[in-house]
Amino acid sequence: MTESSVKKYLNITYGCQMNENDSERLSGQLRTLGYEATEGLDEADVVIINTCCVRESAEKKIYGKIGELKRYKTLNPNLLVIVAGCMAQKDREKLFKKAPHIDVVLGTYNTHTLIEVVREWQENRAPILAVWEQAEQMTADVPSVRKSSIVAWVPIMYGCNNFCTYCIVPYVRGRERSRSKDEIVAEIRQLGRDGFKEITLLGQNVNSYGKDLGVGNSFADLLAAVDEVEEIERVRYMTSHPRDMNEDVVKVIANSKRICRQFHLPVQAGSNDVLKRMNRGYSREDYLELVSIIRRYLPEATLSTDVIVGFPGETDEDFSETLRLFREVEFDAAYTFIFSCRSGTPAATMPDQVPLALKKARLQQLMDLQNEISLKRNRLLEGKTVAVMVEGESKNDASRLVGRTDGNKLVLWKRDGSEVIGQCIDIEIEKAQTWLLKGRVKR
Ligand code: SAM
Ligand code: SF4
Ligand code: F3S
Repeated sequence: MTESSVKKYLNITYGCQMNENDSERLSGQLRTLGYEATEGLDEADVVIINTCCVRESAEKKIYGKIGELKRYKTLNPNLLVIVAGCMAQKDREKLFKKAPHIDVVLGTYNTHTLIEVVREWQENRAPILAVWEQAEQMTADVPSVRKSSIVAWVPIMYGCNNFCTYCIVPYVRGRERSRSKDEIVAEIRQLGRDGFKEITLLGQNVNSYGKDLGVGNSFADLLAAVDEVEEIERVRYMTSHPRDMNEDVVKVIANSKRICRQFHLPVQAGSNDVLKRMNRGYSREDYLELVSIIRRYLPEATLSTDVIVGFPGETDEDFSETLRLFREVEFDAAYTFIFSCRSGTPAATMPDQVPLALKKARLQQLMDLQNEISLKRNRLLEGKTVAVMVEGESKNDASRLVGRTDGNKLVLWKRDGSEVIGQCIDIEIEKAQTWLLKGRVKR
């Protein structure tokens, strides 16, 4: 315990939005136990590291952070050190061996059991391995401490059935489980009543939502239902899988009032050979057809992607197919990754692993190309007026505010005093940068 009588927790989160969302529930459970949030490790009574293992670089960084905690645990043996999330699910007791100052390892299927686990540790002060083998209960109805008061995550499904050959996620998050449409809509309505303006529907492959629920429960059906929730202004979703994305979904979005005109469609590679070995289930031609459907219905929509360079066996020719696809589609933004070998996945043992230097060179080439394209796309908005939802102050300059367009582009402008957080206002774009639009309030 710290000197103050209020117990404190610090939650450090890595990884994707799923983890961010889980962290809100982990924090919510600690709040139920009477803990308050702190930013300072030195005053924390509980530290949770919510981990990601999607790439080796993430794991290394997290092991570094866990190592840092040893000093705090030595200074304060009452400090409760919890490692949760995907690395916890994967590495389990290995974590105790590598870092004996960890008290609790909490898996991804039982994040909702944190309260019991903390109580048990307080009673026995012995290490606890709390990692379930599979999901037994949906974790939705657990108290949450939401990071923002205007934008909220809403998980619509958990897990993934795709087994892309490079990816660890299905092994640490299990098979797809969809929440019921009614439950999701009710949660969103309540969020709207609580003052939230924007929600993001979350799933590893949202387009396969409802396959386990039967007729009338497709992702298109869900989007149509969510679009009717008047308490909310904007709806986003992530992540789409190009194999399961279809014209029905695009049509629903085109006819919708609240669903943002933004498509994040991870392509992963531009070469058919590589896509096949990745087990993605679509060809570059299928992908380009999907892009043309989106552009036909919604020419103003923004398009972004994820891509991996240096997948085993990727030749210069394969990589040039990726460059060619990028030139053809002209994404607004792309998240570019170097292939990372994840032991236990099929790609880890595939022949012809690409040398790191070559992977890095390819990554740089692709990033340079994408930066050029992002700037070009953003420049199209110079002189235009866009609707921006006010999110808050800029981190670096309190005289400026930031917000996002419907297409999820980040906008920065000089505060004029009339803005209200959560409101949509018109901003005239004056200057476009690669990752940012600068503008002024349009009156
Ligand atoms: N479910 C989403 C999808 O299918 O695109 C996102 C999954 S993952 C959390 C986010 C991104 O990480 C993926 O789109 C992929 O580009 C990247 N990724 C996953 N495994 C990887 C690996 N072994 N090496 C490099 N990047 C990887
Ligand atoms: Fe990983 Fe593929 Fe599932 Fe996405 S769809 S989480 S990349 S296995
Ligand atoms: Fe997300 Fe990382 Fe797990 S990307 S699902 S936190 S492995």
